[in-house]
Amino acid sequence: MLEAQNLHKSFAAHRVLKGVSISVHPGEIQVLIGLNGSGKTTLQRVLTGILEPDQGTVSIGGQDITALPPEDRRIGYVPQHTALFKHLTVRENILYPLRNGRGSEETFHEIVKLLSLEPYLEWKPHKLSGGFRARVALARALVSAPRVMLLDEPITEVDRAKKEYILPLFREVLLQLNIPVLYITHDPWEAGQIGTSFLVMKDGIINRIDSPEEAFALIREQARINGE
Ligand SMILES: Nc1ncnc2c1ncn2[C@@H]1O[C@H](COP(=O)(O)OP(=O)(O)OP(=O)(O)O)[C@@H](O)[C@H]1O
Ligand SMILES: [Mg+2]
Repeated sequence: MLEAQNLHKSFAAHRVLKGVSISVHPGEIQVLIGLNGSGKTTLQRVLTGILEPDQGTVSIGGQDITALPPEDRRIGYVPQHTALFKHLTVRENILYPLRNGRGSEETFHEIVKLLSLEPYLEWKPHKLSGGFRARVALARALVSAPRVMLLDEPITEVDRAKKEYILPLFREVLLQLNIPVLYITHDPWEAGQIGTSFLVMKDGIINRIDSPEEAFALIREQARINGE
C-alpha cells in the first residue's frame, strides 16, 4: 500500500499542501482531480522524492521512505508534459531506465506486448501520434517494474476519440500490475473511465469522494468562489 500522512509543502509563503493524507491499495487506480494550481503535481513530486515535504511521511508497504532518494523508491512516474527522447527510437526510449541499472529485457518484452508497441520499436517519437507517445511514456515508466505508479495527466495531448480506446487499455495494463496507482486528470469523463476510486484536492487537502461527478461539483463551486 502507498500511504502519505499529513504532508505539508510550501513554496516561500505559499502553502500548497496543508496536511494531505492518502492511502492507495495494490490493484486500485485512485484518480486525483483538482483545479489548476491546486497542488496535484506538487503532491506527486513529494511522493516520488523529487520534492522534500516540510512535514509528513510517505510509506510503501509499511516502510517509511520519506528519507529515501527518488532512485531508491521504485516508483514509476509519468510526469506532466513528459517528453520522450527525440533522438532515440521507441525501443531505446523504453529501455532507457536499464542504462541506470533499473528494469530488465524480460519486462521490456512483456510491456511492449501489453501495449501493442512491437510495430513501432524502431520509430522516432516525432512519427508517433499523441496516443502512441503516451503509450511509450507509460512503457518507459513500467520497464523498471515499479511497486507504485504515479501518472500526471498522461494523455492530455490525445484526442477524445482516441482516449476512448486508450483509457481501457491503460486501465487493463495498470490493473494487471496489481500495484497502487495514483492518476491525475482534469477530465471527469476520463476519471470515470480509468479510476477505481476518486479523490479531490481543494484548499491544500484531499478528500475521498464516491464519483468523479461529485469532484466536479466541488471544483465548479471553488471556481465560482475564485471568480474564474
Ligand atoms: N517549484 C515551485 N516553486 C514555487 N512555486 C511552485 C513550484 N511548484 C509549484 N508551485 C506553485 O504551487 C502551486 C501548485 O502547483 P502544482 O503544479 O502542484 O498544481 P497542479 O494542481 O498540478 O496544477 P495543474 O493542474 O495546472 O497542473 C501553484 O501555485 C504553483 O505555482
Ligand atoms: Mg500539475
